[in-house]
This record gives sequence, structure tokens and C-alpha cells, in this order.
Amino acid sequence: MSSTVILNARQLVTLSGPQGPRVGPEMRDLSIIEDGAVLIKDGLIECTGTRQELEPLLTEGVEIFDVGGRVVLPGFVDAHTHPVFAGNRADEFELRAQGATYQEIAAQGGGIRSTVRHTRAASLEDLLIAGRKYADWFIRGGTTTVEAKSGYGLTLDDEIKILRAIKQLDRETSLSYVPTFLGAHDIPDEYRDRREEYVQLVIQEMIPFVARENLAEFCDVFCEERVFTLEESRRILKAAHECGLGIRMHADQLSLSGGAKLAAELCASTADHLEHTDAEGIAALLQASVQPVLLPGSVYALGLTNYPHAREMIDAGLPVVLATDFNPGSSPTTSMQMVLSLASTHLKMTPAESITAATINAAYSLNRGSSIGSIEAGKHADLVVYDCEDYRELSYFFGIAHTHTVFASGRKVFARG
Ligand code: NIG
Ligand code: FE
Repeated sequence: MSSTVILNARQLVTLSGPQGPRVGPEMRDLSIIEDGAVLIKDGLIECTGTRQELEPLLTEGVEIFDVGGRVVLPGFVDAHTHPVFAGNRADEFELRAQGATYQEIAAQGGGIRSTVRHTRAASLEDLLIAGRKYADWFIRGGTTTVEAKSGYGLTLDDEIKILRAIKQLDRETSLSYVPTFLGAHDIPDEYRDRREEYVQLVIQEMIPFVARENLAEFCDVFCEERVFTLEESRRILKAAHECGLGIRMHADQLSLSGGAKLAAELCASTADHLEHTDAEGIAALLQASVQPVLLPGSVYALGLTNYPHAREMIDAGLPVVLATDFNPGSSPTTSMQMVLSLASTHLKMTPAESITAATINAAYSLNRGSSIGSIEAGKHADLVVYDCEDYRELSYFFGIAHTHTVFASGRKVFARG
């Protein structure tokens, strides 16, 4: 039995509190312990308290890790990522810098379909090599769990290849992955003139296979003008639900297409993006207890200004989640610290609300609220030490690598220098 105690945290930001995702004023309560300490046994948190409270437990054989007065938080839970793909889209980034829009590039066969072509041509091993590099980026940024979507294969075999890569990355890297099937990410090139056949393929072959083989926990759809219509999205997500998969949705990202309302109708776990969602959509999400997942990195990286209405959502009582949307097109970042900065500067969320959205609320959106997302007895010891004196510096000093040490299930998986 291995025991470690983490000592001397100026702020141990525990996020301990009521069971369930946090709403309204609860989002500002981080349950900080000053001069905090954590006892870890066999990868799990045994207890937390002040140094004085934990000192009697420092018996022989307990390894001591002194964090030198730094700030300690739970690992970030990034609840929306696309981390398995081949190639990148630096060429499109350059075109956008010269004025082309994301939609124009997509209409000309670039965008998601460009990454699909590269990913189809890649072997499982190629995807693993790239995936390991991105896993390292996440860990170095203080993220210990990601939700990971497929969606750059768009054939049964290529989607399976991506989902298997996700499983393998979960086993062999120190990052934890929660897999989501996103076969309805775009209509692939070869089905452009017969989209209904592709929808049928997703519903009749892909979803049943993925569910039967236990390759994903959730199913997602990109519901958007020129991608999947509301009616197609409804049919796909209903089929997924019937096969036992949870539901997440790319909703109202580039236009108000009614995605949030559909997520509510289907009682989805989450509705993601929501840049164009109106008051009616917000009310529908609240009514159906759907968690909004906000992705300000994609608004920023596309050079847009229409950030989602986070303030209205929080004030309405929605348990908001923040995530990176890491992908090679609209949001090429794994940095939750960047997302915290954007959340305060553009979504007008306080640093405390942002941290709640990036940890405990995100964990609940992935059905993992009882095992990760806060520093509480019984949970995985996913802890990150930041070289800060005050947790607000994480949101405030942006573009700085604050991460000092990362523990995943009690094991040190990154240490600076
Ligand atoms: O969440 N909106 C759809 N999917 C991604 C973009 C993926 C890509 O551009 O490759 C998103 O923004
Ligand atoms: Fe996305």
C-alpha cells in the first residue's frame, strides 16, 4: 500500500460541496483550504485538511511531497475534445488569416473533410503517435481527463480505428479518456449526393456496432446548416439512445439552428457550443437539465466575436461547463488555462465560476461526478500544483505555463524542469 501526503499548499482548492453539478452562487464557492494538505493512498484521496489536521497521519512510510506554498487544484476535466486525427490544418489557418471563413473553406472541401482524408490514410499506429503527443500537451496543461470524440473517419472501419486509438491512449498514457462516437460529424465526400444513405449507415450500422463493442459511452452529432439537419440529428441521436449511448450535441455553433431545443427534447447530457442560442433555447436547456458546454477557444481561434451567453446561462441556474474543443480546425489548443482566460475576458465568468465549470461540473457532464473533478475523500488523486499564490492567477496571467507538478491517480506524471 503506497501513501503520499501533499503538504504546504497555500490554497488547496478542493471544490468539495454538494453532490451534483454546481449552479448559481455555488459556482463561486471553491471550498479552499489554506495551508492545505492531502493524504493519498493507492491512488485515491484518503482525506484533506490543514497541515495541522493531517500531521498526526504522517507515520513512517508515508512519502511527503512539499508543494512549497503553491496552489493545488483538481486536474481539469476537458469535456469536449477531438484529439485523434492525422495531419493538421495550418494551411487553412493561414487562409483564414487572409480573410477566408471557416464555412467557405468547408464548402470547398476543406475543413473537417480535409482532416478526414488524412485520417483515413493514417494507420492506427500513426494516430497513436500523434495522439500521444497531444496527450502530453493536455497533461502539461493540468488536464487529467478528456472526453474524446471520433468523427474524422466517417466509414465504419475508420471510425472504429479512431475509437480503438482512444481506448489504447487511455490505457497507455497518463491521461484518462471518455470516448464519444461522432460518426455524424460531416457528410463524407463520397456521400455528398446521397446524404440519406450516410444517415442510414450511421443509424443502422455504425451506432449498433459501436454500442455492441462498447467503443463509446456517448454519441454526438454536428447539427448545423449544411451539415446535419435538425431532423437528421434527431433520428441519429434517438437511435444512439435506444442502443444505450448517452447524448451530447454540437448545437447552435455557427447559426441558430434549434440545436439547443433539440438537446432539451432528447434530454441530452450536454449541448455544446451554443454561440447562437437565444433565451428560449436557454430556458429549454434548464427545463430538461441539459448541461451547456461552452467552448470559447473555437470562437477565439476562428477570429469571431459571438461568444456564448454564459452569464445568462449561469444566472438562469444552468450548471455550465467549459472545455477546449481541441481539434485541428476551429480550436487548435489543449489549454484549459487559455479557456479560463477567455471565460473571464469574454464570457464574463469569474475565475471561481470558470474553475468550477472546468472541473466538477465537467465531471458530472461525463457521469463521473463521484470519482473525479474535486479533491475529496474517495476520489481519484488527480491533482495539479500551479506556480501561483492565488488561484485567480490561472485565469489572469494568460499564455503562461503555470503548471508545476501533475498527479494522475496519485502518480507524478509531470514535473517542471
Ligand atoms: O467543434 N463543429 C464541429 N466540430 C469541431 C470542428 C472540427 C474541425 O474543424 O475539424 C468543432 O468546432
Ligand atoms: Fe467540437
